[in-house]
Amino acid sequence: MSRKSITLNVNGQRRQVMVELDEPLLWVLRDDLGLTGTKFGCGTGECGACSVLIDGVARRSCRVPVAYVSAGQHIVTIEGLGTSGNLSPLQQAFVDHTAFCCGFCTPGMIITATALLASNPHPGSQEIIEAMDYNLCRCGSYLNIIKAIESVIETS
Ligand code: FES
Repeated sequence: MSRKSITLNVNGQRRQVMVELDEPLLWVLRDDLGLTGTKFGCGTGECGACSVLIDGVARRSCRVPVAYVSAGQHIVTIEGLGTSGNLSPLQQAFVDHTAFCCGFCTPGMIITATALLASNPHPGSQEIIEAMDYNLCRCGSYLNIIKAIESVIETS
């Protein structure tokens, strides 16, 4: 298939990339834009490691053909939430609560939790568990992940 030039809005910047239109957004972010915080886990939409925000909604970038994202849509990756020394409240809470072991699932977890708190700023424990249910952590850090999210709610 031939490559085409498209423009994406990623982390507040317009980025022009040459892509195959059926290429998953995940690989454009990682390989073309160098945003390797977004992880490849399963590639089948099951694990959530590749989650990014598209217009504020957590989406699995391994299952989103890049052609489906227009320049008018706002993509936010884990790099767009905060930077070293200026972490988002959720990023800081994950650090403070050691809400990871290997850390591979962490970007997807934080993206999903960010979308949750944007749509429901004060979720109950069960709502948090349900929202995070489809993000997998192979290390089993779920309890600390929930604690980290709850800590952000308590301080907001
Ligand atoms: Fe996309 Fe697992 S890599 S859901």
